[in-house]
Amino acid sequence: MTVPPRPVPDVFDPRLYARGIPHDAYRELRDRHPVAWQDEHEVLGWPAGPGFWAVTRHSDVVRVLKDARGFSSCLGATQIRNPDPADLPFIRRMMLNQDPPAHGRLRRLVSRAFTPARVERFEAAATTRARDLLTAAYSAARDGDGTVDAVRTVTDEYALLNLTDLLGVPAGDRELLLTWTERVIAYQDPDEPPVPGPDGTPVNPRSPAMLKEMFGYAQDLAAYKRDHPGDDVLTSLAHADLSEGELEMFFFLLTVAGNDTVRSAAPGGLLALAAHPEEQRGLRSGRFGVATAVEELLRFHPPVLHFRRTAAEDRVLRGRRVRRGDKVVVFHASANHDERVFTDPHRLDLARSPNPHVSFGDGPHVCLGAHFARLQLRVLHEQALRVLPPYEPAAPPRRLVSHFINGLKSLPLRLLR
Ligand code: HEM
Repeated sequence: MTVPPRPVPDVFDPRLYARGIPHDAYRELRDRHPVAWQDEHEVLGWPAGPGFWAVTRHSDVVRVLKDARGFSSCLGATQIRNPDPADLPFIRRMMLNQDPPAHGRLRRLVSRAFTPARVERFEAAATTRARDLLTAAYSAARDGDGTVDAVRTVTDEYALLNLTDLLGVPAGDRELLLTWTERVIAYQDPDEPPVPGPDGTPVNPRSPAMLKEMFGYAQDLAAYKRDHPGDDVLTSLAHADLSEGELEMFFFLLTVAGNDTVRSAAPGGLLALAAHPEEQRGLRSGRFGVATAVEELLRFHPPVLHFRRTAAEDRVLRGRRVRRGDKVVVFHASANHDERVFTDPHRLDLARSPNPHVSFGDGPHVCLGAHFARLQLRVLHEQALRVLPPYEPAAPPRRLVSHFINGLKSLPLRLLR
């Protein structure tokens, strides 16, 4: 009797991720189909697409991300869903969706605004912020039933306020930023119903029509910064050699890239520690350094689940013929759990070193905000150890319905003293 071949698991459907990262499916792909064709079926009101290659092994993910000539960020941009061809020229104005050498010019310009010295100066503000938010959460828990939703009371606010400080967004406008980023990131989630276009299909949240309001705001704020310069990223961008369109796109990129990622990493790290009391104790006792632990927490709970490239040339990847124009999608959470690179990858090892996780990507587009993100996460965990007693999960977290951001919408924790 012949055994029918095992089907290639689907890792595209955003609804899968509401139950947690599909580690079993990733493992099956890594072991048996490391470069696997995925059907891009109709889902949540979004029409079907042409399909894509899923790349799941660490070495192949790194290879694709480093090979910008073979795997372009510009041809079809960087999201699985194909953008409307009419929107492509607009979407390509963003540095994230460009290839070398054009990408290098923008990257250099914005890197200057992101100096390590500027980021370091935020440490004091981030520390006070983390301490205040955690202290308020702890006292609310003590007055209540001993539990706290860490997302609602601490991490959402922490990520948003840190980012708006760095960008130089005035306090009164911070909520606007939150609304805009949620529209873009949470668009697959039932809590964020899609906005229908004239033909009844949902409007892509990254299309010019949806972003008009945010861009108008970016221009007004840049004009203000030219007259009232501050020690912030928008002041640097407002004085840099950028076209109006480039400045708007930077504002959009930083708002989205810098908020939802930290909003995922911060509760993701707390969840991992809550679920691993022994490791949490080790961190508390100083057995593990917080900076090293943060790397492991980022490996264990990668905020970004995938990025897309488009084959610019024919390539052979793990024996599969990838043709020019094919979509190629790398899966960060799978690479971070690849047994070929990480010993015992499902164990939270806060002392793991070296830790070559790809949570910040690799190659020319490697995360520009990594230093800022690491600082925020280190400070948050340092303060959580000081302010909070030991904590454990009080109920399962609510997860974002998204195959792009590994988001938590709520994280109920029980504070144990
Ligand atoms: C834990 C938090 C974060 C994670 C996991 C993360 C992850 C990533 C990843 C995977 C990429 C690569 C995209 C690609 O390959 O196409 C990226 C790019 C980028 N990130 Fe982050 N990010 C984080 C925080 C931030 C923050 C706080 C900022 C800014 C305030 C930021 C700004 C950017 C920018 C501007 C890019 C585009 C770089 C380019 O195209 O050259 N990120 N990030």
